Amino acid sequence: MKQIQAIRGTQDILPGEVERWYRVEAAAREVFGRYGVGEIRTPIFEDSQVFVKGTGETTDVVQKEMYRFTDLGDNDITLRPEGTPPVVRAYLQHKLGQGRSIDRYFYCGPMFRYERPQKGRYRQFHQIGVEVLGAESARVDAEVIAMAMQWLAELEVASPTLKLNTVGDEETRIAYREILVAAQAERLDELCGDCRARHVSNPLRVFDCKKPGCQAVIETLPVIQESLSAAADRHFNGVREALADWDIQAEIDPRLVRGLDYYRQTVFEITSSALGAQDSLLGGGRYDGLVAQMGGEDVPGVGFASGTERILLAMPEAPAEAATDVFVIAFDEGSVDTTHRFVHELRQAGLRALTYAYGGRNKRAQSKAARRSGAPWQLVVGPDEMAADRYTLRRLADNHEEVVSAGELPAVAARLVRHKASS
Ligand code: HAM
Repeated sequence: MKQIQAIRGTQDILPGEVERWYRVEAAAREVFGRYGVGEIRTPIFEDSQVFVKGTGETTDVVQKEMYRFTDLGDNDITLRPEGTPPVVRAYLQHKLGQGRSIDRYFYCGPMFRYERPQKGRYRQFHQIGVEVLGAESARVDAEVIAMAMQWLAELEVASPTLKLNTVGDEETRIAYREILVAAQAERLDELCGDCRARHVSNPLRVFDCKKPGCQAVIETLPVIQESLSAAADRHFNGVREALADWDIQAEIDPRLVRGLDYYRQTVFEITSSALGAQDSLLGGGRYDGLVAQMGGEDVPGVGFASGTERILLAMPEAPAEAATDVFVIAFDEGSVDTTHRFVHELRQAGLRALTYAYGGRNKRAQSKAARRSGAPWQLVVGPDEMAADRYTLRRLADNHEEVVSAGELPAVAARLVRHKASS
């Protein structure tokens, strides 16, 4: 029978790899905690309207990439392609943010997009994201960016570059849209079919197209910075000044627009040259109209989301750490019961203990497993040891030995292992 494989664009994360995931997630919790950000967990599937209304009907995500299906109860369901609209949905549903508070959330989990898989791009991928609701200050945009940069620095991510732009406020966008539509209309026959459709539905999205023909036109289109309203200009300057004040380098990229409809004012991306074509480690921006668009009041928002797989690609390989502290070997069949009792007692004492003394595996096979485990300490249980009630805990690195009785074993082993952990 042909072996069943994981679905294209999905990946298994195996023991030995998952430890790096823990590290990325632990650093996020720790760094975001410094900024007063608390975790939120929303369901993996939602009513499709959360994304149609939230992510936006004209986006590629909604039009081409959603895992959307009708369930057995005839409900229109979508596996979440991104985390921002679900957080806003939860924020409204639970009436969070009462009394004009500033609410800060982060989330961490799988997202689903039907994209063409390649290195750094998957159909199930994992985001760690942050959403701050209720603050309109440019300083909050800068704070969110500073938090992302700090997190990537602690993970030793290779050469992160911050790219920053503004897509303006409503006033800016109305004025700019007219100018842009007129400029695109003059070169319409050079644009691809998708871009001709975008020209009508959402002309700003033409900037996202990677096709060479469209790129040539994009180079010549007027940029939004020339149409900024006074308020939008002030906001963007506020973000830049705060970042400069905190020594965070930003590259201004006037053509950065991002693929989602809800962005207003600040947009940003952090890329790494350690990645290939999919070089965006994280992206985000301000989305001041989104809460109202999803049925709430006029609450401003700003946030970002990162792709964990991409962060891992840009992080240094960590030396593999042993998952076992003490490996216990039974010398013969008569020692198996005591071996298992020791392993049990060591685990009760908080140690990571392992044995392979199952089903008649001889001492050689067990020693091989002990070496493979990388456990720094070994203990052999045999008839002589049991008769004398003296057991030798041996540290493989330098053959240091500690001789203990059965009664002393858990406490002594715990002291030795903890000593190593804290040194
Ligand atoms: P996004 O740019 O669509 O923004 O995705 C954010 C990040 O998710 C990307 O920079 C990338 O690292 C990762 N990512 C996206 N698609 C894939 C994929 N197919 N495979 C692997 N990684 C991927 C958002 O999702 C917004 N919700 C961000 C945001 C939060 N804006 C404001 N708040």
